[in-house]
Amino acid sequence: MNIFSFFRLLHTIYADPEPDIEYIQSLGLLAVKIGQVFALRPDFLDDQRCRVLGRLYSNTTSLPPEDSLALIASYAGSTYLENFASFNPQPFASASIGQVHRAVLKTGEQVAVKIVKKEYAKNFRRDAASVRRLFQCAIFFYPRLRGVANPVSLLREIEKMTLSELDLRNEAAGARELKSLYEASKDRFDLSHLKFRRVYEELSSENILVTEYADGPTLDQLLTRGELDYDSLLELFHVHGFFMFALGIFHGDIHPGNLVLKDGNFYFLDTGYIGRVPERMRKNLFYFFEALSAYDYAASARCLNAMADRSITGRALADFEKKFLALYADFTGKTVSQVSLTKKMMQTIRLGVLSGMHFDEGMFDIIKSLMYLDGMVIRANPDAVLLQDMRPFIGEFKGLIG
Ligand SMILES: Nc1ncnc2c1ncn2[C@@H]1O[C@H](COP(=O)(O)OP(=O)(O)O)[C@@H](O)[C@H]1O
Ligand SMILES: [Mg+2]
Repeated sequence: MNIFSFFRLLHTIYADPEPDIEYIQSLGLLAVKIGQVFALRPDFLDDQRCRVLGRLYSNTTSLPPEDSLALIASYAGSTYLENFASFNPQPFASASIGQVHRAVLKTGEQVAVKIVKKEYAKNFRRDAASVRRLFQCAIFFYPRLRGVANPVSLLREIEKMTLSELDLRNEAAGARELKSLYEASKDRFDLSHLKFRRVYEELSSENILVTEYADGPTLDQLLTRGELDYDSLLELFHVHGFFMFALGIFHGDIHPGNLVLKDGNFYFLDTGYIGRVPERMRKNLFYFFEALSAYDYAASARCLNAMADRSITGRALADFEKKFLALYADFTGKTVSQVSLTKKMMQTIRLGVLSGMHFDEGMFDIIKSLMYLDGMVIRANPDAVLLQDMRPFIGEFKGLIG
């Protein structure tokens, strides 16, 4: 991506009558990832633009069938497909880094075979380096935004996540880690609606991942059809909230294309990036939400400061608290469509940073999760008062915070 295509990218995201999805895809993986981040930003873009950009989660270009076979042979050798009773060379799904095929093992098990598209890693690294330079110029003019939520850190975050995703062994490792946390926790917390796909490690490698086929729609498909019920989303919050608040280790990319819902159970897909937050941040994040769901803004402000790895005191703190109360003056009792939680959260963190706080980068993993959840609630039930509906879970998590 050069400076022209970069500005053309921003132009199509912000200014074209409708974002040009094909153009974004033609620019490559980094552009797709940037478009995906914008899809979740109803605070910057109108809903319709966000929805169009949301197609980047599920609707990316796939290789022609003969190329998929050649790709598999180049990654795993010409005899690899002998492990399968059948393999469909036509992908059934295609997302940002790869494409996914249905296949059946010799033992009869239905599986999904995910293949990384070639050259992606190399081009991605090159593009990320050039876009980073562009952003560094921009940040030069806004040095105070360095702490969090600045474009350079956002890009670094996209880079960190994507490079991790591009090696599918990380996805297998992520699935193992979440599964073992689940095993260790399922007796003290109800995780009965969370399921894991089996990973066939012996058939998997850096570029190919074979997993049990999760036979159900993704949340993105359900949302598009208007069929995702709000109670299911609350259950997702319940499960994901446990990992985030009680463990501080969680699925780092829970966008709606990465979750399958079947018979009321969630399957985590795409576990290539695990979010992690330090202990102090995890606990105070919880207290922040506890206070916010009780609409106790003075306490929320203190908790945000306690989340920071460099917090503020004295005059700066008093000023911050005053501005925090002003920021939340319109918040009590509002639905997710009346007041965007994502937008409030971004404004909150921005206020913290401008007041002198500094946050660990784990903050991004949290912001991203909450953006995804908020974005899904807006699509599924725009009249929800999410923070009130979260209260029962907050009570349940409290005993587990440690
Ligand atoms: N085991 C599976 N069972 C069912 N569908 C799957 C499975 N693995 C992947 N998919 C489908 O493929 C899509 C892309 O897979 P994903 O792992 O999210 O790839 P990417 O990293 O490119 O986003 C998913 O959104 C889902 O629709
Ligand atoms: Mg995915």
